[in-house]
Amino acid sequence: MSLNNLDLEKIRDGILRDSIMSDEFLGFMEENMKPYNSLLAYYRCAIMEIETKFKVLNEQFSLQYDRNPIESIKSRIKSNESLIRKIRDRKIPLTLEAIEENITDIAGVRVICSFPEDIYMLADCLLNQDDIELIKEKDYIKNPKPGGYRSLHLIVQVPIFLQNEKRNMKVEVQLRTIAMDFWASLEHKLRYKKNIPEKQAQELAYELKQCSEISSELDARMQEIRNRITLAESAYSEKKDAYSKFPLFNSPFGLLSQLTSDGEENTE
Ligand code: GTP
Ligand code: MG
Repeated sequence: MSLNNLDLEKIRDGILRDSIMSDEFLGFMEENMKPYNSLLAYYRCAIMEIETKFKVLNEQFSLQYDRNPIESIKSRIKSNESLIRKIRDRKIPLTLEAIEENITDIAGVRVICSFPEDIYMLADCLLNQDDIELIKEKDYIKNPKPGGYRSLHLIVQVPIFLQNEKRNMKVEVQLRTIAMDFWASLEHKLRYKKNIPEKQAQELAYELKQCSEISSELDARMQEIRNRITLAESAYSEKKDAYSKFPLFNSPFGLLSQLTSDGEENTE
């Protein structure tokens, strides 16, 4: 009997679960429970900081331009299981310092935007803030992953202010459109359904890639529609502004009053 991917993954998860209970890890957790819990609390604070920055930007855009570039924000702290898997896979030493230094996605903030251009606009706004430091940028929109995944990833460092101390925390920010999020969510669900023959799996991977291209085209077309609306709106308000400079054309009363006036208004 041959093992397929799903069986292998089950065995791997079993080993992982056993190893979570291993003496080494139990010892580490017992010794570090308090500092570990504090570290997780700091990451939660960092998430709050980043979320607030995006909410402030969304609010400002809403006031200034009467539109919200952000559809929704989803945040999460990495699960213990996924953290341990990464520590093992990347052979990271079992110390809090090494974990904090090397694992940059313990705190994750996902920002779902309306249009592709909003992604870059929001990323620029965030990175221009003087308390934010960019650690790493991965642009999977300009360079999608081979499977079709698209999003802009930023690893940033943000300070949190505690009672007597300032701490710089790393946060992974993923910015994507609704279409990119739709694709990634479904692909993520399908990725775990691996109990299918290799040939069919290849066909499905190809299908998913095609869907990613369709979603990319949809994003481009929606962006184009938005740009045309913006252009039409600004042309309209420019025209309105121009007319408002000439009271003669501004309203029938303006015209009428000019025609029926005895010319007194025009004496100066
Ligand atoms: P991870 O170990 O998964 O964190 O990957 P990484 O450190 O190499 O970073 P990468 O930029 O590849 O991916 C980080 C995160 O992006 C993942 O945890 C997912 O949330 C998301 N992601 C990356 N690639 C894919 C993909 O192909 N499909 C989906 N659905 N999500 C992806
Ligand atoms: Mg990750």
